[in-house]
Amino acid sequence: MHFTLEHTDPATRARAGRFETAHGTVHTPIFMPVGTVASVKGIHQKELREEIDPDIILGNTYHLFLRPGMEILEAAGGLHAFMGWDRAILTDSGGYQVYSLSANRKIREEGVKFKSHIDGSLHVFTPERVMELQRSIGADIIMAFDECTPYPCDYAYAERSMHMTHRWLDRCIEHLKKAPPKYGYEQSFFPIVQGSVYPDLRRQSAEYIAGADAVGNAIGGLSVGEPAEELYAMADEVCRILPEDKPRYLMGVGTPINILENIALGVDMFDCVMPTRNARNGMLFTSEGTINIKNRKWATDFSPLDPMGLTFADREYSRAYLRHLFAANEYLGKQIATLHNLGFYLWLVREARRRILDGTFGPWKDKMVVQMDKRL
Ligand code: GUN
Repeated sequence: MHFTLEHTDPATRARAGRFETAHGTVHTPIFMPVGTVASVKGIHQKELREEIDPDIILGNTYHLFLRPGMEILEAAGGLHAFMGWDRAILTDSGGYQVYSLSANRKIREEGVKFKSHIDGSLHVFTPERVMELQRSIGADIIMAFDECTPYPCDYAYAERSMHMTHRWLDRCIEHLKKAPPKYGYEQSFFPIVQGSVYPDLRRQSAEYIAGADAVGNAIGGLSVGEPAEELYAMADEVCRILPEDKPRYLMGVGTPINILENIALGVDMFDCVMPTRNARNGMLFTSEGTINIKNRKWATDFSPLDPMGLTFADREYSRAYLRHLFAANEYLGKQIATLHNLGFYLWLVREARRRILDGTFGPWKDKMVVQMDKRL
């Protein structure tokens, strides 16, 4: 995988770039819709491709391991073939889900023992095992196995955990040297910076991760409950150290405002459940602020869902209609809201890219951050 840095904004540190995968070119900055269990919740692949048009989506090793399991994914010929998605896929390693979803987990140097959140069955993830699982899934980008520290997290724990994540990284790399991709195309490996909210740990971790000389690098352990100022401060520290000529992926972030602020700091890739999850709860993101579509005030608002009209749903359906669908608890309401939110997130990163390339990113970002902070 080769990253081409097309332009860096002189006023901020925002970048526009692209990289090639066996399943197409990814243009950055990019938002990756989350397809946890081989499904981007609430949207069909055809609409995802034709209306939202993302270059890449994300899958989760933890979930795919529990369901449908590696035997079925391998028999299908990997995740792309199984779910009918021929563009790029990135899989997260389970380093986050094991901590956030499973019960009774025990973290040791060897790996993590955990109970499935589905049936309580016991499993062990080690760095080596997780690399094997990601080889079987066959994503274009695979992530290191790490520990995502909680917030708050005391300094001693964060330091110990960071060093363990670094040792796990070495084990992932050693394992991959002996284990070529299973499906005949390249799988690019990204290591993950940790260090909680401690600037010196973040710098130390970023140096270590940069030293691995991987084709891309990720920043983890953020968006776990810390204030936005700390998120930006940590991303800032880390982006100053991670190499310029490799993509930088900020994991699990975030709101549209978080995304623009982090693009300005030099982040290239994002993923988050927010546009899809919040859509299912009736919360819409727009360029003028957020809308709770369940609110009575939309009952007789027959104007289009979003005057920007980014997807057909925004142009075809009114706020009153969508509010009705939510009031009646119709599946279609969640589908339309998902289409809208993903359409908005992908528009946001594409517009950011366009503005970085034409030199107007900074003032546009400042204006958008104020506008999007409103509740309509
Ligand atoms: N998703 C959000 N944060 C993280 C993290 O710290 N590690 C991993 N593996 N995934 C994440």
